[in-house]
Amino acid sequence: MSTLLISFLLFFPIFLLLVRKKRSSNRLPPGSLGVPIIGQSLGLLRAMKANTAEKWIKQRIRKYGPISKLSLFGKPTVFVYGPAANKFVFNGDSSTIANQQPKSIRMILGDRCLLELSGQDHKRVRDALVSFLKPESLKKYVEKIDGEIREHLKLHWHGKEQITVLPLMKTLTFNIICSLLFGLERGPKRDQFVSNFETMIAGMWSVPVNLPFTRYNGSLKASARVQNMVKDLIQEKRKKLEQKTASPHQDLITCLLSIRDENGQEVITEKEIVHNVMLVMVAGHDTSSVLITFLVRLLANDPAVYAAVLQEQEEIAKDKSMGEFLTWEDLTKMKYTWRVAMETLRMIPPVFGGFRNTLKDIEYDGYHIPKGWQIFWVTSMTHMDNTIFPEPSKFDPSRFENQSSIPPYCYLPFGAGYRICPGYEFARIETLLVIHRLVTQFTWKLQCSDNVFSRDPMPVPTKGLPIQIVPKNLQ
Ligand code: HEM
Repeated sequence: MSTLLISFLLFFPIFLLLVRKKRSSNRLPPGSLGVPIIGQSLGLLRAMKANTAEKWIKQRIRKYGPISKLSLFGKPTVFVYGPAANKFVFNGDSSTIANQQPKSIRMILGDRCLLELSGQDHKRVRDALVSFLKPESLKKYVEKIDGEIREHLKLHWHGKEQITVLPLMKTLTFNIICSLLFGLERGPKRDQFVSNFETMIAGMWSVPVNLPFTRYNGSLKASARVQNMVKDLIQEKRKKLEQKTASPHQDLITCLLSIRDENGQEVITEKEIVHNVMLVMVAGHDTSSVLITFLVRLLANDPAVYAAVLQEQEEIAKDKSMGEFLTWEDLTKMKYTWRVAMETLRMIPPVFGGFRNTLKDIEYDGYHIPKGWQIFWVTSMTHMDNTIFPEPSKFDPSRFENQSSIPPYCYLPFGAGYRICPGYEFARIETLLVIHRLVTQFTWKLQCSDNVFSRDPMPVPTKGLPIQIVPKNLQ
């Protein structure tokens, strides 16, 4: 609350200036910019927590239309809604609309991560990341990811009667990232990395007050430790590459170190590698773990979907010998399971929405948006629009049988345009592999009947989804 008050005091004078400027052009519909800043920010946060944010936003749209102004987190903001608005946000010219992260997040993840970069710098670093995360590269790692999953189930699921899904899925997706992207295998070094990372992430969404003993302060310190560990990893890998004891395709770090320009110079700086490694750790593990957790819940709640997923996965399993790893070929056969995941992402998108920042005065749909305002976009509003997805509250994976029938800029769990999630394929591979191993090795029941969730800001099921499990060979 104190931060919001500070934001209010800091931004109020700027805010008044902008209001005056806006009145002179007087183009945006009134919305509720006159309502005190604190009221609107808390209203949205409260609605996010109670999972009524969609309702909160729907009410706005009903009252003010698909474009309106409000004040959020101390900044004058334009809320935009609909496919055309999504196109405007995601495909807008990067010299007029920039990505925007709160300063507190920038302090933790670093100022050279993709979220902070724009124009040519963004393209250069993003191309480098994509060169590792594209399907043609990831194909080679399916067995390795499958190996991590099997090891995880051995350690954390087999021999247990009850487990809590969300924290375990966070552990699993983090371990997959460590192994595959950073070549950090199981052992004390990885444990130390994990514990620092957890402290860093725990304070990321806390009130950003940098005083000793605040969670935010702890997060900043942990971020410094993680950065030092990544720097050590980079030195180690650089040496191994020089000695030719590591290959450029070994992991994300060796891949980034090996990208050279026409003069043989490294294209990505060390700082950029460190900051983007941190970003990938955060962006990659929270999102996929949420998707897998909600799939586990859905499969417990919906017998028809469960039966169809099981049939598809057993069809693949029956051609495998004991201990044989799954392959890229197997993943191509998991079409129904991926449609179930897509429908889960439609109804429970891990990323609720986000902000962009205007770098110049711009026009949208006949309205004038002044320089320096933030633009607030929300993914799930088109996902739950009954003119786009009939009966939007009904879980129906067949919506994705013919994906070209879904109009552009309406289904956006991974964003769109030049910032579209580069981890899409990675998320798809790990999700399908986990679901295969779970449905073929276990049956499970929810310990508390659960059909709701809150946002933190990621969706969280009740109590992290405790379940009772029985291994199939005991049935
Ligand atoms: C179910 C899983 C995932 C979902 C739903 C998801 C969603 C998203 C969304 C919506 C964006 C765009 C945000 C914007 O436009 O402001 C994004 C960006 C990003 N995601 Fe993902 N993501 C997932 C998994 C992953 C994974 C596994 C990785 C890495 C291995 C990853 C790395 C990134 C990065 C680096 C960006 C920033 C891209 C840029 O700014 O150019 N994500 N993600």
